[in-house]
Amino acid sequence: MNPNDTFTLAHLSDPHLAYPHASGFSEFLNKRFFGYLKWHLKRRAEHQDDVLAQMIQDIRDTRPDHIVITGDLTHMGLPAEYTRAKKMLERLGPASRVTIIPGNHDAYVAGALDSRLVEWADYLVSDGATISDGEAAAVDTLFPSLRVRAGVALIGVTTAQPCSTFLAVGCIGNDQLQRLEKILIDSGQKGLFRIVLIHHPPKSGVVSWRKRLTDAEAFQRIIHTFGAELILHGHSHHQSQTYLETVGGRIPVIGVPSSSAAGENIKRRARYHLYHLSSRADGWEIRICVRGYDTKTQRFDTENEYRLAD
Ligand SMILES: [Fe+2]
Repeated sequence: MNPNDTFTLAHLSDPHLAYPHASGFSEFLNKRFFGYLKWHLKRRAEHQDDVLAQMIQDIRDTRPDHIVITGDLTHMGLPAEYTRAKKMLERLGPASRVTIIPGNHDAYVAGALDSRLVEWADYLVSDGATISDGEAAAVDTLFPSLRVRAGVALIGVTTAQPCSTFLAVGCIGNDQLQRLEKILIDSGQKGLFRIVLIHHPPKSGVVSWRKRLTDAEAFQRIIHTFGAELILHGHSHHQSQTYLETVGGRIPVIGVPSSSAAGENIKRRARYHLYHLSSRADGWEIRICVRGYDTKTQRFDTENEYRLAD
């Protein structure tokens, strides 16, 4: 990126596209039975297709250079939900301009992620990589993904794993952490602005114990030693901004609410963030624009705009 050029990145998360009625009864003889009950009693009112459609239109109008989605594209990892999510991705833009990582809901039951992720392959693989149907089971080896755009390294980490009925925990795993370490070193040496995309917040206190990242401390140690410039996450379904310490100073860790949340609770109402990243002589400048859903106009508008201080 040339000095004074700006790269604009849109961050949204957790659309939770549901499509239970397009699926057979046998698909629900597992954790999905409880997932369906919860969706019917609570989540169906919360996650509105109209809200998500408005957000997608707003992002298209804003024309960011790149878009990232930090997981839970589907609600129960159903095949029909994966197909709906693919259509949403195509509406957002070509795979070269949209990067995704999976969330725990995309891996709702054993096999859901492994068997369906190939459908989203173009949107999640590293630059220059491809996967075919025959390689669908090798999901773990796809991450961390690395895509470089205009001096910005987009590093996708997966924490998605099936877990028991009343848990929504995530785990990165030692193999992926080792690969992450190498990517952070290499991209740091190249002077890239390193953005780590991760579904589960890697800082304690953002979500409850039953929704935690089980190896958060190992992730924090790697970030502390090898650094990153920004961490973006989903999962919490509310806006949050915390920090992680590194040897070079603290870095921001920022989450957004669900992109389909009509949100009676204003803290959980749908929002996405626009990051305006500029390379300066003394480092990078990060400006954030928060675009939030207005229930009166049923459109997205700027709620807040600020410069992220060092
Ligand atoms: Fe979620």
